[in-house]
Amino acid sequence: MAKKPSSLFVCQECGAVVPKWAGKCEACGAWNSMVEEAQREEVPKGLSGGKGRKIEFVGLEGSSAPLPRLTTAIGELDRVCGGGLVPGSCLLVGGDPGIGKSTLLLQAAAALASQASVAYISGEEAVDQVRMRASRLGHAKAAVALASATSLRDILASLDGPEAPQVVVIDSIQTVYADNIESAPGTVSQVRACAAELIRLAKRRGFILFLVGHVTKDGQIAGPRVLEHMVDTVLYFEGDRGHQFRILRTTKNRFGATDEIGVFEMTDRGLSEVPNPSALFLAERRGNVSGSCVFAGMEGTRPMLVEIQALVAPSSLSSPRRAVVGWDTNRLSMLLAVLDARCGLALSGNDVYLNVAGGLRITEPAADLAVAAALVSSASDVPVPADMVVFGEIGLSGEVRAVAQADTRLKEAAKLGFAQALVPSRPRKDKGAGGGAGSLAIRSIGHLQDVLGLFRHE
Ligand code: TYD
Ligand code: MG
Repeated sequence: MAKKPSSLFVCQECGAVVPKWAGKCEACGAWNSMVEEAQREEVPKGLSGGKGRKIEFVGLEGSSAPLPRLTTAIGELDRVCGGGLVPGSCLLVGGDPGIGKSTLLLQAAAALASQASVAYISGEEAVDQVRMRASRLGHAKAAVALASATSLRDILASLDGPEAPQVVVIDSIQTVYADNIESAPGTVSQVRACAAELIRLAKRRGFILFLVGHVTKDGQIAGPRVLEHMVDTVLYFEGDRGHQFRILRTTKNRFGATDEIGVFEMTDRGLSEVPNPSALFLAERRGNVSGSCVFAGMEGTRPMLVEIQALVAPSSLSSPRRAVVGWDTNRLSMLLAVLDARCGLALSGNDVYLNVAGGLRITEPAADLAVAAALVSSASDVPVPADMVVFGEIGLSGEVRAVAQADTRLKEAAKLGFAQALVPSRPRKDKGAGGGAGSLAIRSIGHLQDVLGLFRHE
């Protein structure tokens, strides 16, 4: 009989378990993320033999009270949580180190403290450090119960009781350790076990639990992905550290819609909300420059206007450069191929750089037409009019396809003072389509070829 392996290798990114070390995880493709961990028993002792109680089944119909929600004073945070925090729910806040997770949660904790009892447990910073941050944020007087702790046993003992707080922040889950598990803090088995215990307690006591999770590139500690299935809501804090904008994005929410984003600005007094992101993203735009085009996009339910910048320059390399920030590289390759094959605009001898200004990441196909306009404009050195917004999806034969929520996009553009819009010719039938964009001159086009006509010879 084969000898039972005494340890296993666990991917710190996705939690996949394999018996042999490998440089690349077969399950999620992460490199150098395998860490040896002591094997855990598959079935806890005493469970398989015992007799269970019969569970009771009920119908789908029935009355349940609408969810009571606790709103923070931070509107952008409430928005991504689906309109406030649900008691007993668990939220995971992930993001790169230094992006602003602790700052956001300290601000949220301070804001919530006026209406609920809040505990903030930091495993990363000493009490004094958190106090210093609080005074910098102007929240030194907030009634937040603060502690610096990392032992799960201590944390559970302090939170379990009739006087349990209504909101608990654990910053971060990777620093918490359970002393009955052999692996080091931050490994998959530790992170999973600690989170499971904390979530179980949150459900039992009905408190709102925030777990902070660092995203790691080198796989030394377990990423938040291994916890995504356990929590109710997953929020990722993203943004470029070189930019002051921070985007809080919902990727999972059992109590609301996903794809919502909250926009913040990092200032010297913490994170401040950005109620009108379009105006901010367009603030530094210079008019009448070739290669710049304003895309009227949607983020969740909210329209968002951003500037797309392209630079097409002759290349001396045998395989010219393609550099993309904020958009999908494959999508750019597709657009360049369509421009070449369907419109006769060959850019294969040119370096192409594409940038979404402000550090936003766009995933919508509706940005195709705006990117194409920026590319054509840069290649021919004819500016796209500064008062024009563009949106539309482009198909492989070069046809410009209609996109959803055209009306909302146009309304936002009109509100920000734009005068013309370049849009797909056949608008998709949206529910509730109506006026509001009346002041815009609409230019509809059916094929990418028409874009070349617009921004080429003047
Ligand atoms: P932090 O919340 O500590 O990040 P995380 O918890 O995600 O690791 O944010 C740290 C960064 O934010 C740090 O580089 C300094 C900056 N910052 C400000 O610019 N202004 C502020 O008021 C605060 C508190 C932090
Ligand atoms: Mg932190």
